[in-house]
Amino acid sequence: SPSDPDLVERARAAKEKLGDKVFVLGHHYQRDEVIQFADVTGDSFKLARDAAARPEAEYIVFCGVHFMAESADILTSDDQKVVLPDLAAGCSMADMATAEQVAECWDVLTEAGIAEQVVPVSYMNSSADIKAFTGKHGGTICTSSNAKKALEWAFELGEKVLFLPDQHLGRNTAVRDLGMSLEDCVLYNPHKPNGGLTAEELRNAKMILWRGHCSVHGRFSVDSVNDVRERIPGVRVLVHPECKHEVVAAADEVGSTEYIIKALDAAPAGSKWAIGTELNLVRRLANAHPDKEIAFLDKTVCFCSTMNRIDLPHLVWTLESLAEGNLVNRIEVDRETEQFAKLALERMLALP
Ligand code: 13P
Ligand code: SF4
Repeated sequence: SPSDPDLVERARAAKEKLGDKVFVLGHHYQRDEVIQFADVTGDSFKLARDAAARPEAEYIVFCGVHFMAESADILTSDDQKVVLPDLAAGCSMADMATAEQVAECWDVLTEAGIAEQVVPVSYMNSSADIKAFTGKHGGTICTSSNAKKALEWAFELGEKVLFLPDQHLGRNTAVRDLGMSLEDCVLYNPHKPNGGLTAEELRNAKMILWRGHCSVHGRFSVDSVNDVRERIPGVRVLVHPECKHEVVAAADEVGSTEYIIKALDAAPAGSKWAIGTELNLVRRLANAHPDKEIAFLDKTVCFCSTMNRIDLPHLVWTLESLAEGNLVNRIEVDRETEQFAKLALERMLALP
């Protein structure tokens, strides 16, 4: 259990024994019981940068999900080992774009005669294979905190963007930040022949959005926004850009987890907020700001089940194994994939 003092003590002792050999990263969606042992917390972008900035740590324990651990492995040196405390901590959104499907999509774009005009931009929430595809085809990775810059960069290079795999982040960024219209965007469905699109639709589109989404953020609706405005008069609604376009349009502010944290830090005492993102983070923010009224945007409980797989027992097991010299749950991306995926990640890190 989270408050089990025995487990807390065991994690502390194992971490102390490992000393500088271990560096623990924690995503903002992690449980409190895990976050207390993180050397650094952050959103996907910050954690990717922080992982790369720790060359002295032999072990990087990544408290987050599989694609984040892969990205950390790609950005760290070969002798550093990235460890994911529970191998079942995946991401349903990342699973919505497989290497085969994306290769097939590229064939469709080639047949429509537009592949040369297309620059792929892939959300961090994708497998290393998708990142490698992106690097190979001259594209970049983005996260929810730099999607605007990534799209601006891509549209300097080409006329069209293939955005993988989160349709909502792609659409929200194109429309809100780049001033495109919804008609400039088409949705590529990997389960339909030719993505369910005609060659003409592809030729007319500026943004080709992959039909993927986050199952957690996908649960917020315009009704949740209307309800909370009724329940809490004067509330400011702040949502993550993985939410649907109509939810983002109904909200007052949009931003990544890091943005949400900073916005609440800067908010005046007595202000009222409804937050549309994962529940562990919203609860932590509510506890950290007793002088503000911080509500969860929807009444139905909304943890990310795979993020939550990393719990204190898994962390204790991981740290104790490493302290005893047993390398467990290593995440290692093969060399060729790593080479191209790194290209795409480095393009992101070099964005202005
Ligand atoms: P950020 O932390 O980059 O906002 O990403 C949110 C998310 O869904 C991570 O899985
Ligand atoms: Fe994936 Fe959504 Fe969970 Fe993030 S919150 S890890 S995008 S399922």
